[in-house]
Amino acid sequence: MSPKKLGRRDFLKFTGIGTLALFGGSLKGLGRQPSLFDRRLLQMEPFMPDAEISITASEKFVQILSGAQTRVWGYEGKLLSGLGVTVQNLPGNYLGPILRVRSGTKVRIYFHNHLAEDSVVHPHGLRVPEDCDGQPMQAIGSGETKVYDFQVINRAGPYWFHPHPMGRTAEQVAMGLAGLFYVWDDEEASVVPGASTGANDVPVVIQDRNFDSSNQILYNPNMLWGYLGSRILVNGKANATAALEPRGYRLRILNGSNARTYKLAWSNNMPLKVIGTDGGLLPAPLSRSYVMLMPGERVDLWADVASLAGKQVILKSLSFDPMGGMMGRGGGMGGGGMGGGGMMGSSLSNGSAFNILTVNVGRKATTKPTLGTTFPALPVHYDAGNVSNFATPVPFTLAMQQMMTWTINGRVYEEMAVADDEMVYRDVPIAWEWINNSPIPHPMHIHNVMFQVIQRNAAVTPAGYATVNQGFLDTGWKDTVIVWPGERVKIAMNFGPHTGMYMYHCHILEHEDMTMMRNLMITDTMMPGM
Ligand code: C2O
Ligand code: CU
Ligand code: CU
Repeated sequence: MSPKKLGRRDFLKFTGIGTLALFGGSLKGLGRQPSLFDRRLLQMEPFMPDAEISITASEKFVQILSGAQTRVWGYEGKLLSGLGVTVQNLPGNYLGPILRVRSGTKVRIYFHNHLAEDSVVHPHGLRVPEDCDGQPMQAIGSGETKVYDFQVINRAGPYWFHPHPMGRTAEQVAMGLAGLFYVWDDEEASVVPGASTGANDVPVVIQDRNFDSSNQILYNPNMLWGYLGSRILVNGKANATAALEPRGYRLRILNGSNARTYKLAWSNNMPLKVIGTDGGLLPAPLSRSYVMLMPGERVDLWADVASLAGKQVILKSLSFDPMGGMMGRGGGMGGGGMGGGGMMGSSLSNGSAFNILTVNVGRKATTKPTLGTTFPALPVHYDAGNVSNFATPVPFTLAMQQMMTWTINGRVYEEMAVADDEMVYRDVPIAWEWINNSPIPHPMHIHNVMFQVIQRNAAVTPAGYATVNQGFLDTGWKDTVIVWPGERVKIAMNFGPHTGMYMYHCHILEHEDMTMMRNLMITDTMMPGM
């Protein structure tokens, strides 16, 4: 039986509330490990957390610009009990908390929604049971609590969490809801000094916002680009600076923006030393003159500023053409038009240059951390030998239809639907291909899996391609990948161990909220009665 044969009826049968009744008596015949969800259902194995955390979303006021404080929505974290987790709030900030979790830890998270509207937390990049994925259908109302019980099975990596309620993800993130979920393990600690404590970490969460004249967040998204802000914030601060010692640091960069793409580079032209991406450390460091980072993506850099004692260096975003020439230049379309979102209140178009973080290097180093030299090899490399459809990846075409309707394979988001090409088997490696037939780039994200980028092609070279394509990071493990206009990007992955309904979508949050999101169903090869 191939996954293609599973139709909508099967989807309804195997997901959601209907599943309970259907699975109730016959779990033993399933031929798979019961999921956490199933176990709870049968009360077979009570979940014993190593640590309990609470995360509360609420409205608050913080100082972002000089003058009036800004009304924001933020998460507040608390470690209630246990080991293997630290919780670091960022006082006076909408951003945070930073959770640091040892891989293998069983966590119980109480999410308290103190907002006036529905919300849910999605752990981005983590492989968690279906009921912990924080999808729109799992959103809870104002004043309610959702409990997440899961074991952190991911390897060390810079994961994060953010809201995911139906149609409200973009604005809730714009209002401030996002936090870091750093996982560490022994393998990482053997290469990166201070990995377990974050001693050498410099988190850099890059976001952009518009503010009105009374310093309040102005959420004015653009139908084409999504929300582009004219103020660049790092870790919730405008005009961000970092005072560093003249030594090595780990810069952990997250593009936490709704829609903006960054072309990261150092002002003094020193190369970026890339040590990790979405799914943790690379098999070996890479040296790049710039790195492209779209919403949802992460990059870990090792920045050694020992030679810059007493000097300043700036992490910048360089200018680039975000449309590959497909509709004329981004800003050109123009300046005040759809291009950079000028019309919609942002004077900073997507692709313009600006400073992100000013690093002031002191004169004295109190420690000299050095990066290890033996990076962890990839445990598997996907190729024709282990991916049966390697030569014929499942195509997913990205398009913009009339009235700026964003589609994937001609489809828009439907709560209870999954198409045949969206059914996958657990533990059966599969190749997909993103085909961008639309005029702008999209960061394509898949829940509950880490993939490898196999190939990136453009039949017709997009204009200005050579000024961006050296910045695409296609090695290591990814959960979000840039697909430039005109490109086909082939990826391969192995879903599991959890089965159930997950999602995939564009991580430009307005595209996701509008329509550019779909369900994805992970099933076992062995199913009762098939
Ligand atoms: Cu970070 Cu479904 O997203
Ligand atoms: Cu996600
Ligand atoms: Cu998109």
